Amino acid sequence: MHSLGNSLRKRLHSILASPRKARKEWGKQYWQELDGIRNISCRHCPKFNEQKITCTIPFGTPLRKCVIAATEAHLSDARDKNVLEIGFGRLSLGRNLVNRSGGTWTGVEPHQPKERKPQLGKGGYGHAEDIPFPDNTFDMVFGIQSFEHWGQKAAAAARKPSEYSDCLNEIRRVLKPGGAVYLDAPMHFHGHEMFIMGDIQKIASLFPDEDWCNVVIEKWRYDYEPLERYAPTEKLFDEWQEEIFSYDAVEVERVKAEPIWLFTISAEKK
Ligand SMILES: C[S@@+](CC[C@H](N)C(=O)[O-])C[C@H]1O[C@@H](n2cnc3c(N)ncnc32)[C@H](O)[C@@H]1O
Repeated sequence: MHSLGNSLRKRLHSILASPRKARKEWGKQYWQELDGIRNISCRHCPKFNEQKITCTIPFGTPLRKCVIAATEAHLSDARDKNVLEIGFGRLSLGRNLVNRSGGTWTGVEPHQPKERKPQLGKGGYGHAEDIPFPDNTFDMVFGIQSFEHWGQKAAAAARKPSEYSDCLNEIRRVLKPGGAVYLDAPMHFHGHEMFIMGDIQKIASLFPDEDWCNVVIEKWRYDYEPLERYAPTEKLFDEWQEEIFSYDAVEVERVKAEPIWLFTISAEKK
């Protein structure tokens, strides 16, 4: 999946990303609601090709395809908005969608050199627990495949694990009242234990009613058929051992047999 062809297709997709096309594609209801959670099954996803029985996103793992689809669904309408991305890495589809739809993208990333201070409209050093901007700056804050790493203990983590409540308070601080947060993370893959275990309740509890409203949770690829199953491999389980400490062994064994899917959460600052 990390072939040259794959990364070129990924880069090209990001360069050509069209917010208008994405708004058209995702403008109608693309989910089925079950117990207050939105379910985006592969079969009913706008990216599903019924004749070829494939996902039409031409690169990436099954998880990354969902990440691309969900990013297009959530970030294509940023007109006149000041938008902050947390943990943008290197290539940001979100940045292109935000800027091209008439918004202003700014990013913070702990892997940037410390002396590179972020400014409105540019990326620089910063992390979820310490966002170098004044209160009430942004209309929207988002993070793509970053949320699960903020409190991660394993050596791969960029820095000392953060408390999730501190990160969410910091995001709330830089959001304007009524501003929105959008985060995605894989379930049963890596990162903090609550994501490995797929503990939706625990993640949702980070958005208490007194601070947040209109909390929306989506499950992408939870219902993956007729596409392929995408499951965690043995290689990941060593890292799981380092991360998981508050769930019992029987639960962990059950989760090892679950397929990987994409969790997204959005909420508005009260
Ligand atoms: C899997 S990469 C995803 C990068 C990019 N968003 C993407 O989708 O390609 C995870 C990113 O989260 C960043 N990250 C990890 N811990 C973070 C934290 N506490 N605050 C902000 N970003 C963090 C990492 O440095 C890395 O760039």
